[in-house]
Amino acid sequence: MKKIIALLLATAMCVMTLTACGASKETMKEGVLVVGTNLAFPPFEMVDDNGNPDGFDVKLIEAIADKMGLKVEWQDMEFGALVAAIGTKIDASIAAMTITDERKKTVDFSTPYYTAVQYIVLPENSDIKTAEDLKNKTIGVQLGTTGDYAAQEIEGATVSAYDKAVYAVNDLLNGKVDCVIVDQGPATVFQNNNPGLVAVSGVEFDFATEDYGIALPKGSPLVEKVNKALEEVIADGTYDKLFNEYLATVEE
Ligand code: ARG
Repeated sequence: MKKIIALLLATAMCVMTLTACGASKETMKEGVLVVGTNLAFPPFEMVDDNGNPDGFDVKLIEAIADKMGLKVEWQDMEFGALVAAIGTKIDASIAAMTITDERKKTVDFSTPYYTAVQYIVLPENSDIKTAEDLKNKTIGVQLGTTGDYAAQEIEGATVSAYDKAVYAVNDLLNGKVDCVIVDQGPATVFQNNNPGLVAVSGVEFDFATEDYGIALPKGSPLVEKVNKALEEVIADGTYDKLFNEYLATVEE
């Protein structure tokens, strides 16, 4: 009986104070936001010349964490591993991640911070011009991305999935795939870095637009805090500054 009472008391204390009970800790490490990403998706996330994380998402969440009084610690991982790692290995993920119903079963998302669409990267002389032409083609994608899912919907398509989008582009240059389906930002960067390749908006191929969100543990108090900090970062002009620095060149 005493044991039961002690247990009930301990539980009540936890509920009342919401501290020191493990489950209520907001981040894994005090004062730190451990953020997972996949540093191979320019201009959203990449490494700079010194090997440090860089890109629009990187700077955006660092500004958000700053408003929350937290320092960011980076974890570079495979894109497909991010969602499952949230709440266990990482506190949050920012990775040009599209808000999808499937992912929402596992994580919560912040307010959308960017709208994109899938693009088709093609050799300049490609005969692929319409959605119809994509049928029965060999398509390169990054594994576990919305580009991967879109390619799988195409009738008769053979989908080659790579750990990094740039590997798919290498196989496009080698002639091993007919095209690559990838988000607008990196598609435009790949076009700019590779003479002979063109990036065509998926809108012309009937692809719908996608919203990017910051993924957070389901039901976490971090969701509201991140949203509030995101609003502040927009209001004080930081968002626009970063947009001009990283994204202006990949917009149409
Ligand atoms: N927006 C796409 C998705 O959510 C691709 C994101 C890939 N991001 C990355 N950092 N590799 O599936």
